[in-house]
Amino acid sequence: MKYKKKGFDYSLLDVTIKLPEEYSPFDRVAVTGNNNPLVVEIGCGNGHFLTKQAVNNPHENFIGIDLKDYRIVKSRMKELSLNIPNVFWINAEAQKALERMFEPSSIHQIYMTFPDPWPKKRHNKHRLFQKDFIETLCKTLEVNGKFIFISDHEEYYQWCIDLLHDEKRFEIVSNEYSNDLTESAFGNIWKEENRLFYSFTMVKI
Ligand SMILES: C[S@@+](CC[C@H](N)C(=O)[O-])C[C@H]1O[C@@H](n2cnc3c(N)ncnc32)[C@H](O)[C@@H]1O
Repeated sequence: MKYKKKGFDYSLLDVTIKLPEEYSPFDRVAVTGNNNPLVVEIGCGNGHFLTKQAVNNPHENFIGIDLKDYRIVKSRMKELSLNIPNVFWINAEAQKALERMFEPSSIHQIYMTFPDPWPKKRHNKHRLFQKDFIETLCKTLEVNGKFIFISDHEEYYQWCIDLLHDEKRFEIVSNEYSNDLTESAFGNIWKEENRLFYSFTMVKI
C-alpha cells in the first residue's frame, strides 16, 4: 500500500472494518455488540482524540476513519493498551467509507478534527469538505445528528461556511468548541504554537 511505513505491525489492521467495493453497510450490532449511538471521526490520525472520547463515553461506539494505514495501526495500539471495548477503525478514504459503509441516518455525531487544509488554490479540490461530502453527511447523520469541525486554518473554515451557504438541511448552531476537541495530536501541536482555532457545529434538521 502506498502509505506503508516500516516498523509497524500491520497485522493489527486485520481487526478493522473493511471498505467494501460497493454499498454494503456493516452490521453495527455484529461489529460493536450493541445498538449504542455511533460517533465517527474523519481523519482520526493516530487515534489520540477518539480513544479519549471512547474512554469517557462508554455508552457510545466510536469509529475512526483514516486513509493512512500506519496511523490506524497506531490507533489500534492505543485501543489495545487501554483495553477500550467501544472503539473501531476503518482504514480507508473517508468519503468512500461514509458512502458505502453506513446505513442512512445511522450516525449520531461526526467529528472532523484538524483536516488537511490543502492551502494552495490548485489543491483545494483535494479538501474533503466539498458539495458531495455535504450530501453524504446529510444522508448518513441522524436527524438532530451533529457534524463538528475544527481547524487552525481560517481559510478552510471559511470554505466550509461558504459551501454551507443556502444549505437548508443543516443549521450551524455554534462556533464555540470545548477544550476536548483540541485534544488531538495535531491540536496539541498547534496549541503549543498558540495558533487560533476555527470551529463550527452544525445539526441535521
Ligand atoms: C492533519 S491530520 C489530523 C489528524 C487528527 N485528526 C489530529 O487532529 O491529530 C489529517 C488526517 O486526515 C487523514 N486524511 C486525509 N485525507 C483523508 C481522507 N480523504 N480520508 C480519510 N482520511 C484522510 C490523514 O491521513 C491524516 O491522518
